[in-house]
Amino acid sequence: MSLPHRTCPRRLIVYRDRVKIALMDSGIGLLAATAAVRRLRPDADLVLSLDPDGMPWGPRTPEDLTERALAVAEAAAARRPDALIVGCNTATVHALTALRARFEPDLPVIGTVPAIKPAAAGGGPLAIWATPATTGSTYQRTLIGDFADGVPVTEVPCWGLAEAVEHADESAIDAAVTAAAALTPDEVTTVVLGCTHYELVAERIRAAVQRPGRPPLVLHGSAGAVAAQALRRLGEQPAPSAAPTAR
Ligand code: DGL
Repeated sequence: MSLPHRTCPRRLIVYRDRVKIALMDSGIGLLAATAAVRRLRPDADLVLSLDPDGMPWGPRTPEDLTERALAVAEAAAARRPDALIVGCNTATVHALTALRARFEPDLPVIGTVPAIKPAAAGGGPLAIWATPATTGSTYQRTLIGDFADGVPVTEVPCWGLAEAVEHADESAIDAAVTAAAALTPDEVTTVVLGCTHYELVAERIRAAVQRPGRPPLVLHGSAGAVAAQALRRLGEQPAPSAAPTAR
């Protein structure tokens, strides 16, 4: 006996693909922006691309770190993300132009820069903690000129701090934070965390810089703003459940 032939009405169901966001850095500094993306869009697929053999990028020349950043970005792009977040200030200030030239317009590239604009809006005095390659870069100087005019600014190169965070080397973190705190004037009220690795040890930085009897120190990272910008570039909304980010 043969089964009756059954015809099914055809129905096309289109599922919108989940948004896929890639993040790149020399190392685990990208976790700050990764957490921020996750807060805004818990459903997002994430691709993380790092350079364990080349980390740290901070002491490298602009040419050298641009080459490394392009290689790390290529590895991320191979996973076909909808957007690429450069979760690294150092790579952004030196290699964003090269990254955009290579990947846009097909793949929007979102950079991370020291949060000088919101920090300066508080009036300062402020300190910008960043890698040696970011400190003194033309990009950072331009941000200071554009957004911190009239605000006392101290640029603090933090030798060894990103590397110490990467390796969870407690004594090296203490030594690097102590050295950077010594270069930070006592009257500073605001610190810009101009390297994504520093966002992972923000409370240790606060403890080292906060002076007794002074108003609570304000820290400015970039992760929340960068995650929000990535969604804007994609025309995506935060999930309704997304809690506002706070520091
Ligand atoms: N996390 C990177 C930044 O924001 C750099 C760390 C490194 O020196 O490799 O600048």
